[in-house]
Amino acid sequence: MGWLFEWHEWIEALHVISVIAWMAGMLYLPRLYVYHCDAAAGGEASEMLKVMERRLLRAIINPAMLSAFLFGGLLLSTPGIVDWTAGWMYAKLALVLAMTGFHGFLSRWRKDFLADRNEKPAAFYRRVNEVPTVLMIGIVVLVIVKPF
Ligand code: HEM
Repeated sequence: MGWLFEWHEWIEALHVISVIAWMAGMLYLPRLYVYHCDAAAGGEASEMLKVMERRLLRAIINPAMLSAFLFGGLLLSTPGIVDWTAGWMYAKLALVLAMTGFHGFLSRWRKDFLADRNEKPAAFYRRVNEVPTVLMIGIVVLVIVKPF
């Protein structure tokens, strides 16, 4: 496992790059849902938004999440990187689990728009757009400040 420690700065850099791409998509997709609520079903705008939502989820959000987990998992497996007697990493992983759950909801809501069966108002998507923001702030503070 020596190579993990030898390369851990590169692995951490790739982890942070993956996380930035994941968060960019998680913060943008709910915004597309806000616009989609005002687009007439079957209309040109709605069909274009369906393409944008599919590409954002499939080409950016999903691969970025997988690589955040891959490089995060390699960091977790690197001896000496995480002090498991402290509480911050447990709290971080709990927030990451919540972020992954929210990812699942975004994917399900996309299928509702795809089938023109979304019933939630734009105000709902404006409100939930704050969820990844709050989780991201909590995760970054935990991993950088390590408060407990
Ligand atoms: C997907 C599951 C994840 C795992 C298993 C994971 C695991 C880790 C580990 C073990 C470290 C090294 C900690 C250290 O060097 O003290 C780390 C660093 C980091 N993680 Fe994650 N992480 C995950 C997701 C995330 C997410 C979603 C974010 C942000 C929203 C994030 C932000 C960071 C940052 C900014 C660092 C660098 C900290 C530093 O340079 O001190 N991670 N991660």
